[in-house]
Amino acid sequence: MKVFKTVSEIRDYLDKERRNGCSVGFIPTMGALHRGHTEIIQRVRRENDLVVCSIFVNPKQFGNNVDFKKYPRNIDKDLQILSDIDCDIAFTPSTEEMYPGPVKEDYQFGELEETMEGKYRKGHFKGVAIAVKRLLEITEPDRAYFGKKDYQQLLIIKKLVEITGLPVVIVPCNTVREPDGLALNSRNQRLTPQQRKDAAIIHKTLLKAYNLYNKKTPFYQIKQMVKLEINAMPTLRLEYFEIANPENLKPLKTYMPDQKAIACIAVYAGNIRLIDNMVFND
Ligand code: PAF
Repeated sequence: MKVFKTVSEIRDYLDKERRNGCSVGFIPTMGALHRGHTEIIQRVRRENDLVVCSIFVNPKQFGNNVDFKKYPRNIDKDLQILSDIDCDIAFTPSTEEMYPGPVKEDYQFGELEETMEGKYRKGHFKGVAIAVKRLLEITEPDRAYFGKKDYQQLLIIKKLVEITGLPVVIVPCNTVREPDGLALNSRNQRLTPQQRKDAAIIHKTLLKAYNLYNKKTPFYQIKQMVKLEINAMPTLRLEYFEIANPENLKPLKTYMPDQKAIACIAVYAGNIRLIDNMVFND
């Protein structure tokens, strides 16, 4: 596996490979790699000639410096994982390499960046978009892969590609779960044993909400149930639960048989924020 730290090195290398007819599949990450990442990377491997993975903890998408500083980092372990699963290229730029000068871009995502995650993490998606745009410009992949666990991020990235006209196919990837249902997430490793145990309730509550939804239960009752279930766990606190239109994340008010729906949830375990979602009718 090749490890590049600079933009010029990776660009030179990929330009050559592209001239030889190789297709490029790209997965951007912030490191602390887990099975959620490696399953995506295996898919990238199957669907492309070259697998490129970036590891960059993007300061621009963190609302507070504490969360940024506490974000788990273990670059040596990550590089070993990537090399073991046959990744071709790891791109590990410094902040100076990613942002050599003042960042002027300011993308407008409308309501999509104001709701749910956007409401509670002001500026988060602008920060994500700036990093992803830069990474896509550097790596120029044919396909870029994003997890559905960060569903709102996925919609933002699709919109970013639409706004900028970048010639890349965005490939959504299924959420990978622990046996008890907890969605894999780099922040899980910061949970205490009790928080980790309690966090399994998040997926279970989504399943319960799904059953109620199928019985056409009024949404206010579903929301009440979710709040009670989550807040009954001593280490958890519900931030939001919303049932929304999966195309634009506009909240839905009531069950409609032909309306697709997605339920999105954010929960605090201490100061660690966990998000998850479930498609209610495909
Ligand atoms: O989902 C992530 O890990 C990050 O938001 C991303 C897409 C790598 C951008 O920094």
